[in-house]
Amino acid sequence: MSLLLNRTTFGSPANNGNVLSKQEANTLLNDWVLNDRLKLHMKQVARLMHDWAQEREGLNEDDQWRWEMAGLLHDADWDQWPDQHCRKIIEELETRNVDPEVIRAIASHGPLHFGVEPETKMDKMLFAFDELSGLIHAYSLMRPNGYEGMDIKGVKKRIKDKAFAANVSRDDINDALNRAELTMDELVGFIIQRQGSVEMQTV
Ligand SMILES: [Fe+2]
Ligand SMILES: [Fe+2]
Repeated sequence: MSLLLNRTTFGSPANNGNVLSKQEANTLLNDWVLNDRLKLHMKQVARLMHDWAQEREGLNEDDQWRWEMAGLLHDADWDQWPDQHCRKIIEELETRNVDPEVIRAIASHGPLHFGVEPETKMDKMLFAFDELSGLIHAYSLMRPNGYEGMDIKGVKKRIKDKAFAANVSRDDINDALNRAELTMDELVGFIIQRQGSVEMQTV
């Protein structure tokens, strides 16, 4: 089964800056994603994207929401339509005239699967956060105190242990870090500090 999109342009430049409201995005998330674990993953990535846009890129609130929205919806079709993963949410957002940069970021969150190279900073950060976020969450679930007291060293040990979260591609993680020009320590530290509090919220 191929998920290749066989496209390189997404959305229309006429829709630059168009977003869904937070309520519209959450309704889409809740309608499409029935699996609470996946929903949590999407909310975690959304939070990371938001905080990165705000703290590291110094973007304004509108842009922060564009980054957050890409994170929130990147796996929206994975639960119910895995064989249409990425294609379905992209087409939905195109129909709704969403900002092309947001759609493009979603389309490039798995370059090997979808065949779209991450180009913008938003693309690259979504790709970088995606798998590392999942691996760190898996690690939190096996620790007695979850995220409490988790350190970078512990996470790096799990990354080296190929049997741990074996479905998370180490090659993808390294590829994503190279593209984003970030070190493992930098990105892991950023995620550890923020992701635990997302877990507390009701999904
Ligand atoms: Fe995905
Ligand atoms: Fe994901």
